[in-house]
Amino acid sequence: MENLAYVGGYLRCEGVDLRQIAELAGTPTYLYSQQSIVKRFEAMDRAFAGLPHLVCFALKANSNLAIGRVLAERGAGADIVSGGELYRALKMGIRPDRIIFAGVGKTAREIAEALEAGILLFNVESEGELLALDELAGRLGLGKRAPIALRVNPDVDPQTHPYIATGMKKYKFGIAGEQIPRLYRLAQELPNVEPLGIQMHIGSQLVRIQPIVEAVTKIVRLVEALRADGLALRYIDIGGGLGIAYRDETPEGPARLAAAIGPLIQPTGCTLLLEPGRFIVGNGGGLLTRVLYVKDNGVKKFVIVDAGMNDLIRPSLYDAYHEIRPVRETEARETVDVVGPICESGDFFAHDRPVAAVNPGDLLLIASAGAYGFAMASNYNARPRPAEVLIAGDSVRIVRRRETYEDLIRGEELS
Ligand code: LLP
Repeated sequence: MENLAYVGGYLRCEGVDLRQIAELAGTPTYLYSQQSIVKRFEAMDRAFAGLPHLVCFALKANSNLAIGRVLAERGAGADIVSGGELYRALKMGIRPDRIIFAGVGKTAREIAEALEAGILLFNVESEGELLALDELAGRLGLGKRAPIALRVNPDVDPQTHPYIATGMKKYKFGIAGEQIPRLYRLAQELPNVEPLGIQMHIGSQLVRIQPIVEAVTKIVRLVEALRADGLALRYIDIGGGLGIAYRDETPEGPARLAAAIGPLIQPTGCTLLLEPGRFIVGNGGGLLTRVLYVKDNGVKKFVIVDAGMNDLIRPSLYDAYHEIRPVRETEARETVDVVGPICESGDFFAHDRPVAAVNPGDLLLIASAGAYGFAMASNYNARPRPAEVLIAGDSVRIVRRRETYEDLIRGEELS
C-alpha cells in the first residue's frame, strides 16, 4: 500500500496518524489516500498521452462519491455496470459523454436511464441486448441513435484467479469472435443503434500484460476486417485489469502496456478507452480495525478483530492476500489467524501468518483494500457497514458515515 510510514512509532497515511482516524471515525473504517489515487490516475493518463484516449474509472472497484469527484475533477470518465452506478457517476460530476455502460444483464429501465443521460457508449454483450437497445432507443424517441460497442470475447487466458477471469469462452462475458461480423452487420441495419466501437476485458489483477497484448492484437485485426467491410469504428476499449502489488508481485504498469499496444492501436486511428479500477484505488486504501480478543485454543492462536468478512470479503472469496500492519510499530511477531466476528469459518483475513504481536485494543491496518473492499461490503450478521475517510496531506475527512441500526432496517415493515 502507498503513502504509509511509521513516524514516532505510529503508522501514518500521508500526514495523518491512524490513531487519529480511529478516534474520529471509530473502527472498522476504510481510509483512502487521495494523493495515491490521483497519482495512479495521472500515471495512467500520462502513459497513454501519445494516443487519443479516455480513462474511464471502473466504479465497481470503489464508488464512493468523494473519490469519484476527485477523479471527475481530473477529467476521468466512468465505466458503469448498473443504473445505480450511473446515478453515482452523475452525482460525482462525471460528464455523461465520458460514461460507458458494460454488463451482460442490463435491464430496460437501466438502458432507458443511460439513453436519457446521453452516455458515450453501451458495451453490448449479446444479440438479445442489441435488439432490446434498438427497440428501446426507437421507443424513447430521443432523436438520436444509441451509441454502441460490441464486447468481444477474445478467448485468451489471462492467467489470473478463475473468479476474476472473463475473456475465455467458458465464461459468460462478451460475444464470440466468429459472431462479431454478423452482429456488426445487424447493428448497421438496425435503425436506432450506431456501432461506434469495439470492447474487450479479459480479467482482473493481471500482473503480466502479455495476455492483454494478445487480445488487443486480435481486436485490432477485427477492426481492420470490419473496416474492409465498410464499417469504420471510432473507439477501441481494452477494458481494465491491470494488477497491483498486494504482497511481492511486480506488476507491469501502464507505461509498459502503452509501449506494447500503442503501436497496434495508432494505425487504426481509433480513440482508446481504458477501464481501470483496481489500479487506480487498490493500493491507496486500507481497512482500519481494532483487536477485540486474542485467544489460544492450544493448537492455534487467533487474533479476533472488529472487522469481518462482511466488511472485506476478498480473503474469504478469493483467498486474497492483504498485508496486515500494526498501527503501533512492533518488532515481535506471532504466527496467528486473524479473524472477524462473523459466524462463519470463512471469516478470516489471514491464516497461519506471522503478524505483529498484538493485545486487545491495538489497531491493525488491513492494507491495499481500496478496490473491491467497501464496494463489496454487506450487512451480513446485521452489521452496519464501516465509515470511509479520505486523507489529503494532513487532513482527514469522513466521506461516508458509519451506518446505523436505523440504516439496517430502512424500508422494512413489521406487519
Ligand atoms: N471493465 C470490466 C468490463 C470489468 O468487468 C472490470 C472488472 C473492470 C473493467 C475493472 O477491472 P480492474 O481494472 O479493477 O481489474 N471483485 C474482484 C474483482 C472483480 C473484477 C470484475 N470486473 C476482486 O476483488 O478481486
